[in-house]
Amino acid sequence: MTKCVLKMRLAAGGLCALLMGCMSVAQSVSFQVMDGNSTCVKGELEATFNIAYTTTTNRTALAGISLPSSSTSSGFCGASDLLQLHFGANHSLSMSFSRDEQVYELNQLSLQFNLSDVISFPQSSSTGLLTVVANVSGILASVNSSYVCLSSVLLELSDVVNVTFSQMRLQAFMTVGEISADESVCSADLSSSTTAPPSPLPTSPLPPPERGNYSVTNTNGSVCMLALMGLQINITHLSQNQSVSALVNLQPNRTTPTGSCGDSMSTLELSDEESRTNLSLSFSLNSTSRKFFLSAANVSALWPGMSDVFESGSGSLSLLQGSLGRSYMCSTQQSLQVTPVFTINTFNLQIQPFGVSGNQFSTAEECLLDKENLLVPIVVGAALAGLVLIVLIAYLIGRKRTHPGYQTI
Ligand SMILES: *[C@@H]1O[C@H](CO)[C@@H](O)[C@H](O)[C@H]1NC(C)=O
Ligand SMILES: *[C@@H]1O[C@H](CO)[C@@H](O)[C@H](O)[C@H]1NC(C)=O
Ligand SMILES: *[C@@H]1O[C@H](CO)[C@@H](O)[C@H](O)[C@H]1NC(C)=O
Ligand SMILES: *[C@@H]1O[C@H](CO)[C@@H](O)[C@H](O)[C@H]1NC(C)=O
Ligand SMILES: *[C@@H]1O[C@H](CO)[C@@H](O)[C@H](O)[C@H]1NC(C)=O
Ligand SMILES: *[C@@H]1O[C@H](CO)[C@@H](O)[C@H](O)[C@H]1NC(C)=O
Ligand SMILES: *[C@@H]1O[C@H](CO)[C@@H](O)[C@H](O)[C@H]1NC(C)=O
Ligand SMILES: *[C@@H]1O[C@H](CO)[C@@H](O)[C@H](O)[C@H]1NC(C)=O
Ligand SMILES: *[C@@H]1O[C@H](CO)[C@@H](O)[C@H](O)[C@H]1NC(C)=O
Ligand SMILES: *[C@@H]1O[C@H](CO)[C@@H](O)[C@H](O)[C@H]1NC(C)=O
Ligand SMILES: *[C@@H]1O[C@H](CO)[C@@H](O)[C@H](O)[C@H]1NC(C)=O
Ligand SMILES: *[C@@H]1O[C@H](CO)[C@@H](O)[C@H](O)[C@H]1NC(C)=O
Repeated sequence: MTKCVLKMRLAAGGLCALLMGCMSVAQSVSFQVMDGNSTCVKGELEATFNIAYTTTTNRTALAGISLPSSSTSSGFCGASDLLQLHFGANHSLSMSFSRDEQVYELNQLSLQFNLSDVISFPQSSSTGLLTVVANVSGILASVNSSYVCLSSVLLELSDVVNVTFSQMRLQAFMTVGEISADESVCSADLSSSTTAPPSPLPTSPLPPPERGNYSVTNTNGSVCMLALMGLQINITHLSQNQSVSALVNLQPNRTTPTGSCGDSMSTLELSDEESRTNLSLSFSLNSTSRKFFLSAANVSALWPGMSDVFESGSGSLSLLQGSLGRSYMCSTQQSLQVTPVFTINTFNLQIQPFGVSGNQFSTAEECLLDKENLLVPIVVGAALAGLVLIVLIAYLIGRKRTHPGYQTI
């Protein structure tokens, strides 16, 4: 168990929209802390946690967990009021409030995560509990008033844990059973009150993905499938009952290629833990036509903004077709539509799923798009050459005609 106490920095507002974690679908949680028959803390909020952790492959992965609406509350009332929200596999968020004559304030946050929870922390190297305690400041309200902050507020609790609160409306040290209509509104809400409420980010144009070496090695150590390419995954998922397109580049330096090679089928599995993306590509060989082709593609993804794992794929494809004994090359960007909600964009691709010898690509067979792209400069070049020729001929003819004229003088 690690325990750290850190002074927290408070950064409020729209900045959060730029941070991936804030895009997770947060759910509103209602809570109430009672002492006998009287309520001391009551309210609702949304919270998303971003936790960096180490995986079994010694990589740093980022877990994004949203407080589910099924969270249960407990706590106690006293000199300081304590609110605890419990969720999932024994995860919890504790908020401790203190007060003086005039104001009450959230002064400490404590988070506990169960790293054994493989759904939230896939392939975590450590199991057991991660506890982070941080002193906080900035969330405060007048006594007998409710604290209201609908804007997103990012709290950096430690180097590895951030929490983002939004849609907050709560009151501590209550004397009557209901939240006061007298509100202490946070400054982020006051400054943003004239602007429109935050809406989901549109899919911003991404730079092309980096080209990765996703080659597959046999059990005996020889490379059996060669694959160099940049990959971009485009999926359409439902978010709050709306169809949303999301685009992610596979980053070669954190994507692990594994797979297997067979006589008639070779499979490449790409897994990026950080963006929680798994992509599987299967190539089949038709021994009659001696052609190979991408026959199956499947993706599973859990990206920020998704409440559930997205899965899609097809096993009846016939894409990226090449000849046995050759490699298939396509420098031009290609969009491979796998299902209506799942497309793979390839960049600068060269693959050879069968018949690899000596760790090297066989002679490349170029895709039609490349040939078309090549055709344009050829046509333009030919046109230019023709033009030069016409000018030259015109010049020569002109010269021949005027030449005798000079001689007569
Ligand atoms: C956090 O607050 C407690 C009591 O309010 C104090 O004893 C402790 O020193 C504080 N820790 C830090 C790191 O400021
Ligand atoms: C709670 O209220 C009930 C009646 O509504 C009363 O009988 C009981 O004594 C109260 N308990 C406390 C601790 O105030
Ligand atoms: C994990 O990585 C860190 C630095 O990146 C290194 O110091 C450490 O030895 C590695 N641990 C293992 C088990 O590979
Ligand atoms: C939570 O922890 C308690 C003991 O610490 C254990 O009995 C219980 O099964 C745990 N619950 C879950 C959902 O892991
Ligand atoms: C952590 O989660 C695992 C798996 O969900 C569960 O078996 C275990 O009891 C939990 N640990 C604690 C301390 O609650
Ligand atoms: C808060 O309300 C209670 C009961 O209504 C009252 O006794 C108390 O003086 C009020 N405190 C402040 C600071 O207004
Ligand atoms: C927490 O937020 C800061 C500032 O935006 C960011 O630099 C950092 O990577 C975040 N950490 C985690 C674990 O999300
Ligand atoms: C790609 O990786 C394979 C196996 O790791 C290696 O044999 C090959 O030389 C690499 N190719 C390039 C162009 O880096
Ligand atoms: C081992 O490698 C050789 C080429 O070096 C290849 O012909 C053979 O099929 C491989 N065997 C297995 C079991 O992968
Ligand atoms: C992603 O897919 C959506 C829906 O099919 C499409 O409208 C959009 O143009 C695609 N974006 C890219 C960059 O491929
Ligand atoms: C991976 O590559 C990206 C882009 O080149 C870079 O920003 C990032 O720091 C790299 N990450 C690691 C773990 O090497
Ligand atoms: C293999 O290719 C031949 C010729 O193109 C075709 O007739 C046959 O249906 C293909 N077989 C499979 C299993 O796709």
